[in-house]
Amino acid sequence: MANTHQQARGHEKIETSNTLMIVLILVAVVIGGLVEIVTLFFQRSTTQPLEGLKPYTALQLAGRDVYIREGCYNCHSQMIRPFRAETLRYGPYSKAGEFVYDHPFQWGSKRTGPDLHRVGGKYNDEWHRLHLVSPRALVPESNMPAYPWLESAALDPESIAPRMKALRVVGVPYSDEDLNSAAEAVKGRTELDAVVAYLQVLGTAVK
Ligand code: HEC
Repeated sequence: MANTHQQARGHEKIETSNTLMIVLILVAVVIGGLVEIVTLFFQRSTTQPLEGLKPYTALQLAGRDVYIREGCYNCHSQMIRPFRAETLRYGPYSKAGEFVYDHPFQWGSKRTGPDLHRVGGKYNDEWHRLHLVSPRALVPESNMPAYPWLESAALDPESIAPRMKALRVVGVPYSDEDLNSAAEAVKGRTELDAVVAYLQVLGTAVK
């Protein structure tokens, strides 16, 4: 009897003290968070690149930057969840190892348009070019904005190698050769070329 009384008083102390309650909640959340997150750092399937995954080429990387600049992620996710409705529509669900070279991820959370993670190879380049310049020419009911300026915007060849170099610092395995040939690879190409190159490689590392 005395024992339960003491327990009840101990609990009362916590419940009636804001500070103690906040501190103990924080401790509980920190422990829970560490257990959930830190274990992922040591799990191969979440940290190792999927077999066959290649870093983006200079042109694809430039296209990815345009994708981010134009805010395509506001309407498109790149994350196919492991549910039947998703895999039937979009293809094999996304694996963590496919995103190892993505800094930052473009998973997104809004699907005004379809998920784009497996759009690579779904259409030909010409379809993408027409669609980006004038979506309604191909999909009359589309509410996707048109991006006609991409066609005439030239890429800056000098800016791409430094970006690849920065990605190398965070673990993307670019060689010196990749960096040296980057400017040449995007010279004379437009932002439209780059976005199409990026879209065409999305999700293609999975067989
Ligand atoms: C306001 C929302 C919105 C934005 C922003 C947007 N899209 Fe879309 N997108 C859509 C919708 C809706 C569709 C489906 C209709 C269609 O195909 O046009 C679509 C379709 C697509 C498709 C065809 C997908 C498929 O599987 O058929 C591609 C590729 C695409 N968008 C790329 C882009 C790119 C690249 C950008 C940024 C430059 C972008 N979108 C920005 C709404 C958007």
